[in-house]
Amino acid sequence: MADPTTTDDLTNAGASTMADDRTRTYWNTRHLERDDLASGGHISLDRPGNEIFYALRLGALLTLIGDLSNQRSPLFVLDAGCGKGHFARALARCGHRVDAFDASPAAVAHARAEGGGPRYAEASLTDWRSPWLYDVVLCVDVLFHVMDDAQWAAGLRNLASLVRVTGRLIVADQDGNERTPLGDYIVHRPTAAYRRELDPLGLRHTLFKPYGFRENPLGFHVFTRTR
Ligand SMILES: C[S@@+](CC[C@H](N)C(=O)[O-])C[C@H]1O[C@@H](n2cnc3c(N)ncnc32)[C@H](O)[C@@H]1O
Repeated sequence: MADPTTTDDLTNAGASTMADDRTRTYWNTRHLERDDLASGGHISLDRPGNEIFYALRLGALLTLIGDLSNQRSPLFVLDAGCGKGHFARALARCGHRVDAFDASPAAVAHARAEGGGPRYAEASLTDWRSPWLYDVVLCVDVLFHVMDDAQWAAGLRNLASLVRVTGRLIVADQDGNERTPLGDYIVHRPTAAYRRELDPLGLRHTLFKPYGFRENPLGFHVFTRTR
């Protein structure tokens, strides 16, 4: 298998067929216009609010991923839809080997300029391919921005295929019973819809951890690959 640790950046053959154009334009514009936290965080929060929002979620993620890191055998983490790379950099600082991708060229350019260890690519949830599997695949506040159900399912299945056996897929959404569209760029799916896609692929729903940020109803769904 190719050594995933030898180059600085990643390329991906499928990057040209990215997220649908309207969504991609929305996110790229937002990444160009907003600061590093508001672009991928909560658009209506001020800077301190977004600092708290990111810090709380990072703490929650570290609780889920575990507090061990080992230089000789680091965890391989994929941050899918990484935005400007806030979580990717933080996890790299914690000793993990991080690959990260996003459909927005502006976000990826910003993330690359920040450096800090992760390797970045421009790609979409459905296009990303990797010759190696990951211990942890994260997808934070991305899937409920995929409006088309078929694209959502295809992206989710692709992410699932990248998780090694006993590894985890951590995706953010509500823990609800209904499909809930909110405006032009959000559709929350029921937990059962995630299970329906992931169970047949050998990923079992093991936990829902709420963000615990103010009245925000979102949280991390953890799926563990059992076979
Ligand atoms: C709310 S931001 C979250 C960014 C990052 N995960 C974070 O929490 O800081 C949503 C991100 O998803 C990306 N995105 C949306 N649809 C995507 C897709 N189909 N494939 C890859 N990235 C996508 C956007 O470009 C944007 O950077």
